[in-house]
Amino acid sequence: MNLTLKIWRQKNKQDKGRMETYPVSNISGDMSFLEMLDVLNEQLINDGKEPVAFDHDCREGICGMCSLFINGEAHGPGREITTCQLHMRSFKDGDTIHIEPWRAAAFPVVKDLVTDRSALDRIMNAGGFVSVNTSGNTIDANTIPVPKADADKAFDAATCIGCGACVATCKNASAMLFTSAKVSQLALLPQGKVEAHDRVLNMVHQMDLEGFGNCTNTGACEVECPKGISLENIARMNREYLSASVTGE
Ligand code: SF4
Ligand code: FES
Repeated sequence: MNLTLKIWRQKNKQDKGRMETYPVSNISGDMSFLEMLDVLNEQLINDGKEPVAFDHDCREGICGMCSLFINGEAHGPGREITTCQLHMRSFKDGDTIHIEPWRAAAFPVVKDLVTDRSALDRIMNAGGFVSVNTSGNTIDANTIPVPKADADKAFDAATCIGCGACVATCKNASAMLFTSAKVSQLALLPQGKVEAHDRVLNMVHQMDLEGFGNCTNTGACEVECPKGISLENIARMNREYLSASVTGE
């Protein structure tokens, strides 16, 4: 199929940026969206032009790097898939496709479609871990019983890949879905209980410092999340936060 691409080009953080138009032809429906961009970049390089910068790594829905806003939707059309899992058969011959980077004050554009999402790493650094005694007397994790229902919910929360689609799609640029998934994956397990109060207070504090907006329960994040992370996690984080604030621990 032949397509017209309208792509955001921005030299660096300071550049104002603009949309530019590129035709691409002979695109197979079996190509992934990123492979289609590879074809465009080969064409640009052959023409002596600057290729479009975009993020990617695993190309199989695991790393969360391929963060593109496609025709106004985070990760494009389709549910519970990342951009690298989006195939060109989702589009029709002659289509015009608009491709933009994530838009959020906390995710500044580095170049073209690449944004700096290190704010999410700093939220993790603030508390997204458990401290483990590795002195040689560590208790085997399997000796601590965990109810199956809790283990399943913790696992579901842990499938968050930190892509930032929830932030990009939220009108408030809120990072509540991401942060709540990272709080929940530990809060649900006995191993996470020891530091639970500090964790939720510190992670929410860091989230606010980074300039993410507040949650107003629109639910857009859950709809666009490629891993189907549930809003239930936000409710759990709010309960954890309230409990930690009231007890002051
Ligand atoms: S909650 Fe979903 S949309 Fe948000 S960072 Fe995690 S995987 Fe991406
Ligand atoms: S490139 Fe890793 S999730 Fe898409």
